[in-house]
Amino acid sequence: MDHSDTKKSIVCLEFFSGIGGLHYGLQESGIHGHVVMSFDMNENANSVYEYNFKMRPNNKAIDYLEPVDIDTYQATCWLLSPPCQPYTRGGKYLDDEDPRARGLIHLLGLLPKLKHKPTHLLLENVMNFENSRSRSLLVETLGNMGFKIYECLLSPVQAGIPNNRLRYYLVAVKTDDTTNAAVANECKRRTEEYLQRGRDAVFTEWPFGPAADQSSAVAKDTATIPLESYIDHTFDGVASLYVSAADIVKRKNFEFDIVQPSSERTSTFTKAYGSKHLIGAGSLLQTKHMDVRENGFGAPEKLLDLGLRFFSPKEVALLHHFPLGSQTNKPYVLEFPENLTQRQQLQLLGNSLNVHMVALLIKHVLFTN
Ligand SMILES: C[S@@+](CC[C@H](N)C(=O)[O-])C[C@H]1O[C@@H](n2cnc3c(N)ncnc32)[C@H](O)[C@@H]1O
Repeated sequence: MDHSDTKKSIVCLEFFSGIGGLHYGLQESGIHGHVVMSFDMNENANSVYEYNFKMRPNNKAIDYLEPVDIDTYQATCWLLSPPCQPYTRGGKYLDDEDPRARGLIHLLGLLPKLKHKPTHLLLENVMNFENSRSRSLLVETLGNMGFKIYECLLSPVQAGIPNNRLRYYLVAVKTDDTTNAAVANECKRRTEEYLQRGRDAVFTEWPFGPAADQSSAVAKDTATIPLESYIDHTFDGVASLYVSAADIVKRKNFEFDIVQPSSERTSTFTKAYGSKHLIGAGSLLQTKHMDVRENGFGAPEKLLDLGLRFFSPKEVALLHHFPLGSQTNKPYVLEFPENLTQRQQLQLLGNSLNVHMVALLIKHVLFTN
């Protein structure tokens, strides 16, 4: 594989860009590419994006983009992480009937009509997207356009990172010229066959597909990095990170997800992390009395002496493998503008993704030659 400077840089667009997780993934992959424009309507996310990448994302709702808004960049690679709520219980599994799915569905409608169509595409979403009508439309659109498709469900724990974040990824590479009618028909037939396989088409192991063929190049990373190495104990003294006693004792019949620095893994951090939603939003860190292991079920008052705190934005960013200023010499690092509160930072991070997993897929599945 040679993506040296003598090769032309791959021109990418990033849709639903948030704080730029896919952009950092592209950087970490080492592939010679650059993001020429990103699209997101959340102004907090856009201010973080601009702060770090020195480029203000287009804040027009993606549902209203015109072909010219996209064609103008002549991009060959699309990176997308559309909203997850349409495919979750919280969003009532409304799928393509959820207004939040409109952006993705609009893009899929535009795609075949563009003058400058991408040849490479990577999309990230939650587990269960693979069962949705939106996924069928995505696969059908790309398959009929002559793309070879790889779908997978992967969590960073499979790459040795002590954070669970099981996510759906689709990687698509244009392989067939569908201007030839016979080829186009064959692509349609193949796509129908692929869709009939349903969930069976989805890989769940790492490495898979082209990555599995490069067995010597793809690290399986089976040894887990200790959680301790992601923890910054200077935060143990920061009052705003501690969970209030009132919020703990309120929850009598719930199991709290509590980890210690010696624990093997943390759970998924969601956009509710750091708020009063203590259950199911991400792990809490125990900072005292490590000999006590409690989950608080039935007796939350037993947790009051354990010094429970939220992971700080810096620690969550590290677990998501964002490059941070002090740890890397990469051109783009993640920093937050000072006006964003801790809660806003955690919210944006909870919405984002694991940069290392994206990098693995970009390097070993999306661009393999
Ligand atoms: C799951 S988050 C993606 C986060 C991103 N990957 C990151 O690393 O931060 C989805 C993003 O899509 C944006 N979004 C949702 N619907 C949109 C729309 N119709 N037009 C533009 N942006 C939209 C949200 O503001 C949010 O930032």
